[in-house]
Amino acid sequence: MTQLPESFLWGGALAAHQFEGGWNKGGKGPSVVDVLTAGAHGVPRRITDQVEADEFYPNHEAIDFYSNYKEDIALFAELGLKVLRTSIGWTRIFPKGDEAEPNEEGLRFYDKVFDELLKHGIKPVITLSHFEIPLHLAREYGGFRSRKVVDFFVRFAEVVFERYKDKVEYWMTFNEINNQMDVNNPLFLWTNAGIQVEEGEDARSVMYQSAHHQLLASARAVAAGRRINPDFKIGAMVSHVPVYPYSCHPKDIMAAEIANRERFFFPDVQVRGKYPAYALKELAQLGIVLPVEAGDEADLKAGTVDYLAFSYYMSTVVKHDAVHTASDSMINGGLKNGVDNPYLASSDWGWTIDPHGLRYVLSTLYNRYQLPLFIVENGFGAVDVVEADGIHDETRIDYFSKHIAAMKEAVLEDGVDLIGYTPWGIIDVVSFTTGEMKKRYGMIYVDRDNEGQGSMERMKKDSFYWYQNVIATNGQEI
Ligand code: BG6
Repeated sequence: MTQLPESFLWGGALAAHQFEGGWNKGGKGPSVVDVLTAGAHGVPRRITDQVEADEFYPNHEAIDFYSNYKEDIALFAELGLKVLRTSIGWTRIFPKGDEAEPNEEGLRFYDKVFDELLKHGIKPVITLSHFEIPLHLAREYGGFRSRKVVDFFVRFAEVVFERYKDKVEYWMTFNEINNQMDVNNPLFLWTNAGIQVEEGEDARSVMYQSAHHQLLASARAVAAGRRINPDFKIGAMVSHVPVYPYSCHPKDIMAAEIANRERFFFPDVQVRGKYPAYALKELAQLGIVLPVEAGDEADLKAGTVDYLAFSYYMSTVVKHDAVHTASDSMINGGLKNGVDNPYLASSDWGWTIDPHGLRYVLSTLYNRYQLPLFIVENGFGAVDVVEADGIHDETRIDYFSKHIAAMKEAVLEDGVDLIGYTPWGIIDVVSFTTGEMKKRYGMIYVDRDNEGQGSMERMKKDSFYWYQNVIATNGQEI
């Protein structure tokens, strides 16, 4: 093979809460992101108890795809996307999460969106939960601390699998399920699990116990999906930020090996159907007992995934004798001995730019799991300047070009089985970690600022035309 296969799925990636808006329209209930205020680089987003009248919540309106979906999908079609990865807002379907019956108006919204996509020849690729746990489940049940939430998630999954079984083939259960391994950042346990750690609690123990419920929920959803449509392809989705050793000092090598377990823990269970040995040892050493009940182990085994999807933005480094000195602690953080990589530049938000790392990750994940892989997020968050003659985002084009080159090496030289590539935020959306609009990833610009001001007008950036040609040439011209 000298070229990517013709079936390669070029696309774009989004998540309901970051672009849909319409947070309380069509019967939708509030989710855990609807109580997240705006932050900035170095300024964390706050979690308010409920939706407060005097707070600004950037996700409430987002970029209002809810009202503009036809126009936006027409732009995606012009770009040439073969797939669009997005999520189904859980609270559009179950506004509180524990209802017996779904909200028909919410289901109809996704019928319309998927039909519009399919009309343009774009296949929807769907994440069941992209940080969109119903707020009611967080407040009344303690999120995934509660086993009942496993059943609510599976019911939600069954309803949407049944409803869209002829419209969607590729599914993922939980987005970036492994972010919560960084228990020091409250944003991640909140958005992954609907949990706020209380005083006196051990965060790591809370995280592992609720992780068991999420892993169970994921496995049971996979099994349900297979019953509903055996042709479904259902994957796990992780954020893969590889950890490099700082040097060839054997202790740095081992420090990296141990730190990488934070990345592998969730997919190890979702792909292999059982807890890995290193995790069992750690749990025993910390005295953490997982809430395992009869039948859980068999369910984990029966619900292993068909493919592994992942996001790749950056890499990080550990040095065995360092205390944490890495300049950024978002997503790549939480490593107690993390240090900066002297060979890599970073974005304005401190995320390293490491195209070679993508080939390394593809090779590592494929050899570890031997399952098809799907890059469902990759991209460059930056400030864009609107000039009189357009938006000239050369840095973004350069970022994508180098990452796609690395991806091709992994496929064509290393033999990795890769399903597709969906760059993040194909249209500008609200940033997850900061809630900002100015951290833009899109190839389509949206006139909206951090304070929610702007006309919402859409404009094509230079990267739009560049990516259009990448897709048209199946990645030959990058
Ligand atoms: C991933 C998430 O963490 O990275 C997305 O799945 C997110 O939801 C993306 O938007 C980029 O992060 P950020 O914070 O720059 O928006």
